[in-house]
Amino acid sequence: MTLLALEDCDVFYGKAQALHRVSLEIGPGEVVSLIGRNGAGKSTILKTMIGLNRATGGRRLWKGGDVTALRPDQLGRLGIAYVPEDRRIFSNLSVDENLRIATVMGRKGGWDAARVHKLFPVLRERATQPGDTLSGGEQQMLAIARGLLTNPEVLLLDEPTEGLAPLIVDQLVEAMRLINAEGMALLLVEQNLRVPMKLAHRQYVIDHGAIRWTGTTAELQASRDEIEKLISL
Ligand SMILES: Nc1ncnc2c1ncn2[C@@H]1O[C@H](COP(=O)(O)OP(=O)(O)OP(=O)(O)O)[C@@H](O)[C@H]1O
Ligand SMILES: [Mg+2]
Repeated sequence: MTLLALEDCDVFYGKAQALHRVSLEIGPGEVVSLIGRNGAGKSTILKTMIGLNRATGGRRLWKGGDVTALRPDQLGRLGIAYVPEDRRIFSNLSVDENLRIATVMGRKGGWDAARVHKLFPVLRERATQPGDTLSGGEQQMLAIARGLLTNPEVLLLDEPTEGLAPLIVDQLVEAMRLINAEGMALLLVEQNLRVPMKLAHRQYVIDHGAIRWTGTTAELQASRDEIEKLISL
C-alpha cells in the first residue's frame, strides 16, 4: 500500500511551469530521497504534497484515496508533517513553547515531549531559551521535533542537513534513522547524494521540474556517475 503519492502533477508559478507530470510515492515505513540541484523543483514537490501549492493537472493520493482538493491543515490531520527549508522556528518563543504549540496542534500518538527530549537531549538543555538563540543544527532538531509531536505517519524534510557541520549532520542522520526505525516514513530532500545514500531505501532524482531517474539505493550506486551529472551544478 502507498501512503502518500503525487500522480502526474503539473505546477505553475504564474506562467512558468515548475513541475512537469511529476509522479512520486512513499510507502509506510519507507525512507525515500528526492535529490536535485538548486532550483530543480524539490521544494515545489514538498509544497504540492502538503497542499501549499496547487497542481493544475494530476492528483494527490493518501492511502489510495484522492485528496487533491484538501488544504494543508486537513492533510496535516491525515498524518502528513512538513519541515520547511527555512525551519520556521518561532524566534521569540522558547524551545519549550515551540514544542508545546506542535503538541496542541497535532494528532494524538506516541511522540511526546519526553520522547523528543530523549532523541534530542539538547532541546531539554535549551528548554527556556528563545528559538533564535539556537545554532542552525539545534534549530533543525527543534523543527524535526515539532514535526514529530504532531504524530504524523510521514514526515517531509526539506534539506534538513543543508549548511550544517559534518558532526551535526551525523547526529541528524542517526536521529532520522531512529525515527524511521520506530516506524515513521520519511521523504528526505537533499541536493547531493551523501545523506540519501546512508539513509534512503529508494531515490528520485529531479531536474528542471521533472523526475529524471528513480530506483533503489543499490541501483543508484550502480548508476552513480550518470546521477552525479544530473545533480551537479
Ligand atoms: N513562489 C515562487 N514564485 C515563482 N517561482 C518560484 C516560486 N518558488 C519557486 N519558484 C521557481 O520554481 C523553480 C523550482 O523551485 P524550487 O524552490 O522548487 O527548487 P528547489 O529544488 O527546492 O531549489 P533549492 O535547492 O534552491 O531549494 C525554480 O525555478 C524557482 O525559481
Ligand atoms: Mg528548495
